[in-house]
Amino acid sequence: MQDWRPDSWKSRPAAQQPAYRSEDEVAQVVEEIAKLPPLVTSWEIGALKGQLAEAARGERFVLQGGDCAESFASCDSATIANKLKVLLQMSLVLVHGCRKRVVRIGRFAGQYAKPRSEDLETRDGITLPSYRGDLINRPEFTEEARQPDPWLMLRGYERAALTLNFVRALVSRGFVDPHRLDYWNLDWVKGSAMAAEYRRMADSIGESLRFMENILGAHPGELNWVDFFTSHEGLHLPYEQAQTRRVPRQEGWYNLSTHFPWIGMRTADPEGAHVEYFRGIQNPVAVKVGPGFSADRLRRLIDVLHPVDEPGRLTLIHRCGTERIARYLPELIRAARSTGKTVLWCCDPMHGNTRSTADGIKTRYFVDILGELDQAFEIHRTEGVPLGGLHIELTGEAVTECIGGARGVNEEDLKTDYRSQLDPRLNYEQALEMALFVARRMGAGR
Ligand code: PEP
Ligand code: CO
Repeated sequence: MQDWRPDSWKSRPAAQQPAYRSEDEVAQVVEEIAKLPPLVTSWEIGALKGQLAEAARGERFVLQGGDCAESFASCDSATIANKLKVLLQMSLVLVHGCRKRVVRIGRFAGQYAKPRSEDLETRDGITLPSYRGDLINRPEFTEEARQPDPWLMLRGYERAALTLNFVRALVSRGFVDPHRLDYWNLDWVKGSAMAAEYRRMADSIGESLRFMENILGAHPGELNWVDFFTSHEGLHLPYEQAQTRRVPRQEGWYNLSTHFPWIGMRTADPEGAHVEYFRGIQNPVAVKVGPGFSADRLRRLIDVLHPVDEPGRLTLIHRCGTERIARYLPELIRAARSTGKTVLWCCDPMHGNTRSTADGIKTRYFVDILGELDQAFEIHRTEGVPLGGLHIELTGEAVTECIGGARGVNEEDLKTDYRSQLDPRLNYEQALEMALFVARRMGAGR
């Protein structure tokens, strides 16, 4: 890789980075994290790349989901297990409905840094740095909390390790055994309007498993049944750099803090620092694209990030919004196609559909989210390029942050259990309803 180093991004303009008091201290923290063991391995990264290549050919479907931002405070057993449960249940619905294997990727174990539209925030005449995620500073509106603290990167690395350790333990035994679908059930789904449909599906899977066991004399549940991969927005470049290393007997450099980092919309400048960093790592990478992204810019990005046509290397996640997807997506798909490179397309139906209520609460309407997804399937079908996956913000908790869904969350309900510091997430039930929708949509397209 010509002229590339884990820190060569420093020679480019880096958007969305905080102003630290001391760069020496930042360097000290980066050095500290670099000494610690990696969170993921190069062979896991290679396996994911292979699975993403299959998704690009339409042979698998990607489910990528989790919080908009993880917080250090909610690094606890219930939050992690519930998030895993909802992702597993969704993937089960997708496998069953789409008749495809699913690639499961969490937006977790590192999703701690957020892009902000303003560097500063003013309240009652006092101006302080914006909250940029727990990796950088704290949400409380005080001088001390908002001062960027480089040691939070080390805390973030540790929290990521704790999260991943628990996820790995859960998915490697028992918890994911398809004979124990009841383990995955979250209590409050019992009263859900979706429960009957889900239960019918679970019963049918149970029957198929018993049938297979009788025929094969084997027990599929004994297999290591589930692969789970991690991802986060690779926004805060000193943190990404810290775990970027060479690996014995492998070519090139790996970011070993996550399997699958992505570049957000606001930092996807082909000449910027983020693209410079991402071009040099061996991981599969994704870029969020949407309105405002010209065909020419997309082609330049593909050139830099995907110079050889290596299947699985590049995923494009479009996030246009239900009102704009028909206008923007076909052009983006054609621009990518004109490069001759294979890319995997996923749809993020969340970020183009964010609105504020009259009271200034950030929300998303479930009908807009499904509306965008529905159009995405149609546009991809027309353009002859598979829609290979879904990227969403969700939680396993019964929050009320998005409006609509089977239980009819309304604007008034947003006040009852709104916990997100940043973007509104689908709750457990809305997430499952979305999976049923996608399964039906893809089943119908067969
Ligand atoms: C996000 O994924 O939380 C995000 C900020 O998205 P985007 O880059 O698409 O705006
Ligand atoms: Co978000």
